Amino acid sequence: MSPAKRITVPKFAAMKHAGEKITMLTAYDYPTARLLDAAGVEGILVGDSLSMVVQGHENTLSVTLDAMIYHAEIVGRAVEHALVVVDMPFPSNLLGPYKAIENAGRILKESACQAVKLEGGADQSDVIAALVGAGIPVMAHCGLRPQAVHTLGGYRVQRDAERLMADAKAAEAAGAFAVVLECIPADLAREITKAISIPTIGIGAGADCDGQILVIHDLLGLSSDYVPSFVKAYADLGTQITDAVGRFRHDVREGTFPGPGQSFK
Ligand code: KIV
Repeated sequence: MSPAKRITVPKFAAMKHAGEKITMLTAYDYPTARLLDAAGVEGILVGDSLSMVVQGHENTLSVTLDAMIYHAEIVGRAVEHALVVVDMPFPSNLLGPYKAIENAGRILKESACQAVKLEGGADQSDVIAALVGAGIPVMAHCGLRPQAVHTLGGYRVQRDAERLMADAKAAEAAGAFAVVLECIPADLAREITKAISIPTIGIGAGADCDGQILVIHDLLGLSSDYVPSFVKAYADLGTQITDAVGRFRHDVREGTFPGPGQSFK
């Protein structure tokens, strides 16, 4: 696949000013990334949610930089049209600007992805500025920061309006091209969206963000454990897979698969 036809970072950011809503989903593997790209989403995130939905860990802290790059390289080869963003896993952006450039640089060098996402706002503005200065586009992630789950004591709606507004403004001032707003009240997300000129991408942040993102496993009904209340499942693939596998097992045990149509003469 050629990334030459992809939505660029400036085009993605310009969608806000054109009044066009932005759709983003996560992907971690080749076939899924191709399907999402074919469906026309503007952005694909290789999220650190990989840790939970693919690797089966309890939170996002476990996934390594090497694992993120492994999946980013696969997704990067699959996507032709969408902007591809990769999460900086914990704590790859927290060790100072120099280390952050080294880690984000590896992501861009070793995959055909175009930008990184990092959890942080005002507290990460020096890192965002350093990455942007090094030619690495940054999507910030404010509101609920899943990598801070132990500090927060759980995944809760974030309501500190003053801090969240300051975080989003600091991310914009530092050069971020977009900001994810996770789990914040819809009114506050609307205010932030009006106050900054870069696109806001909401997840559990109401309808007035410039775009929306969901974890693909949640959207497709593939998540076996807890699904947050802000998710809308557009399919129930989990049930369909279990049903299909059950029918395969039944046919094998009954001797009706393979039949003449699936056998060689
Ligand atoms: O890791 C992730 O999937 C995310 C979301 C914004 C969906 O960060």
